[in-house]
Amino acid sequence: MRPLIAGNWKMNGLGAEGVALARAVCEGLGDRSNGVDVLLCPPFTLIERVARAVAGSAIAVGGQDCHPKAAGAHTGDVSAPMLKDAGASFVILGHSERRADHGETDALVHAKAEAALAAGLTPIVCVGETLAERDAGRAEAVVAAQLAGSLPEGFAQANGVVAYEPVWAIGTGRTPSKADIAAMHATIRARLIARFGGAGRGVRILYGGSVKAANAKPILAVPEVGGALVGGASLRAEEFLAIIAAAVAVA
Ligand code: PGA
Repeated sequence: MRPLIAGNWKMNGLGAEGVALARAVCEGLGDRSNGVDVLLCPPFTLIERVARAVAGSAIAVGGQDCHPKAAGAHTGDVSAPMLKDAGASFVILGHSERRADHGETDALVHAKAEAALAAGLTPIVCVGETLAERDAGRAEAVVAAQLAGSLPEGFAQANGVVAYEPVWAIGTGRTPSKADIAAMHATIRARLIARFGGAGRGVRILYGGSVKAANAKPILAVPEVGGALVGGASLRAEEFLAIIAAAVAVA
């Protein structure tokens, strides 16, 4: 399975710096993207400019959210067909920051993922437990419930992607042990196969949460880790390129 290294820029980047970052990743990549899929997810305002900056390269562009409806009276929202029209081919959905900041439920993430699939976008559905949930021994149950509630029919068949991001590892510099990552990814794989049959075997399961150049290789070598969703470290071209290089080395 080709690994996917996705950069989640979150709410960062004005025009000049965003385009410069995208160009730097593009130029730095050279032929090192061999065997690895690379994705940049800038804020809405930069999707079109970043798509133009990486045009002709192997780099794909994605959004960080979409509305469940294709169009209508939803002030401030952006739909999946709009993302597609702007040059995106992926969309991150149900990120824990959206679940926390905007009260997104599994049902809403499910509806958004359906909208993404209908628009021809590949959804990256994020799941992950809080520290309190992990400490209470409920991490796997929480993630299983998020998967059951958030993934729509046809998700696996359409090459949907799951990102496991423990909430307590995001932006904190802390990461779970390799054994904990392996255990959670194995659980997610089992749930995907139980739900989608053979197609569940082909779903890429990304790890996310404080991935950086220094820890990328051992994390990407964990069984069932099919790539990484990278936040902070994706804002520096050198760092992001080093993570991609780690994926190439492990693939
Ligand atoms: P981080 O964020 O790499 O800065 O921890 C990851 C994410 O939230 O996708």
